[in-house]
Amino acid sequence: MKIRVVQENICKFKDEAILIGLFEGKKKLSGMALELDAVTGNLIKKVIASGDFTGKFNQKKLLYTDKGLKVKRILLAGLGKEKELTLDKLRGLAAGCAQSIRDTGIESFAVPCSFAEVKKTDMKDMNQAVLEGSMLGLYSFDQYKSKKKDDNKRIKQITLLADTQKELIELKGVVKKTVSVCDAVCMARDLVSSPGNTVTPIYLANKARAVSKKSRLTCRIIDEKGAKKLKMGAFLSVAQGSDQPARFIILEHKPVKTKAVKTVVIVGKAITFDSGGISLKPPGNMQEMKTDMSGGAAAIAVLQACSALDVPVHVVGLIPATENMPSGKALKPGDVVESMSGKTIEIISTDAEGRLILADALTYAKRYKPAAVIDMATLTGACIIALGNDVSALMGNDNGVIDRILAASEKTGEKMWQLPLWEEYGELIKSDIADLKNAGGRAAGTITAGYFLKEFAGDLPWVHIDIAGTAWTNKNKPYIPKGASGVCVRLLVDMLENWK
Ligand code: BES
Ligand code: MN
Ligand code: ZN
Repeated sequence: MKIRVVQENICKFKDEAILIGLFEGKKKLSGMALELDAVTGNLIKKVIASGDFTGKFNQKKLLYTDKGLKVKRILLAGLGKEKELTLDKLRGLAAGCAQSIRDTGIESFAVPCSFAEVKKTDMKDMNQAVLEGSMLGLYSFDQYKSKKKDDNKRIKQITLLADTQKELIELKGVVKKTVSVCDAVCMARDLVSSPGNTVTPIYLANKARAVSKKSRLTCRIIDEKGAKKLKMGAFLSVAQGSDQPARFIILEHKPVKTKAVKTVVIVGKAITFDSGGISLKPPGNMQEMKTDMSGGAAAIAVLQACSALDVPVHVVGLIPATENMPSGKALKPGDVVESMSGKTIEIISTDAEGRLILADALTYAKRYKPAAVIDMATLTGACIIALGNDVSALMGNDNGVIDRILAASEKTGEKMWQLPLWEEYGELIKSDIADLKNAGGRAAGTITAGYFLKEFAGDLPWVHIDIAGTAWTNKNKPYIPKGASGVCVRLLVDMLENWK
């Protein structure tokens, strides 16, 4: 898909369709809508007068133009009430419009930069939202279909229409940034949607290496021998049951334009398949556990985008990657393992494997003396019970970092809700025979998992994001088609771009 920006007179501009947003209950047309209406013999005013289009949020109406315009169609899109419009609603609206244009069989469309008639100060954010919604909403995963049923229905080009030279330059910046970020989100989605027999730990390591070769990232892969030397006993205890060799992936972004000041470590859980191990999961929906590497995929994607945008922070991605399988060599309930930190862990459930691999990654993070460590993990089923499928759980020991994430959450529409890590929760993961146990029973399952990680984060400024409910969706969401969401990529890139 090609994204371009042009500055051209609307009467001369040629395209298959143009998107026009109209607010509900507004008496007068303005901006591009007014211009288009004037040259089309009041086409828009007539539709409004007929009552067929009111501007209600998400309402769509396709109009065909004949005289006066080289654009063949106008898609009117309802923006709803002016004061109720948010960037996230705009993303969803743009996605729906782009999808309906695609489904008509049209291959390109244009959006005027004043699409939502907002104040000029919001111009960049608004256009970013429109573009994000379009690109993310048009995403589809069909690599594994031998017959691509929608092959003839694909948007090949989106054009942003600038009114002025100044807008043209600003929009070019917006496009570069948005395309980099959305490409990264889509790469994460591809990885998460791909089956576990393709996406193995080695595959992820190769992917990370390939990403680093196409960018300015550096990549280091630690194999099992290397992990043993580092005494990553918790990570290796999960890997020992699998025939797929584990890998500990390290990606690093060093800013080119800014002299590196702060280091931020991004950790992503990458269990390429979580069977539960000896504490085997019930078979219903076990196939979804191919998505248990969503945190790792997001981390690789964040690093890719950080490099493309040259964010002004030294960013390190740590991705412990392994399968969690039952076998004669597998970890067993009752085993005690020694983590890289020296802390011993009694295994209660081999299905609480994510926190084991993250524990060693957090210990490894310490060598960077980071200003923040943020981990993303599909860590607990309890998170889905607590917050559902639209909100990720957030917890940590550093309010400064939490506030940065919440600010980015507000902007990107990736919802987060903070849970407490009060000391009482620590009681639930005390072991009789080791320093800690890896599972604390049904009560407060998301928090006890977070508390377990906190014990390994120690004095690192650390935040944990549980994405168990948000990494995957079984129904279409406004700009997330059924499947992998790529959650946290936009959020963390936004946070890192604005790090000072
Ligand atoms: N990967 C799962 C969590 C999960 C469940 C993610 C459903 C997405 C959807 C994790 O490894 C796990 O199995 N957690 C256990 C922990 C328990 C044994 C303490 C869980 O949530 O049941
Ligand atoms: Mn598990
Ligand atoms: Zn898991």
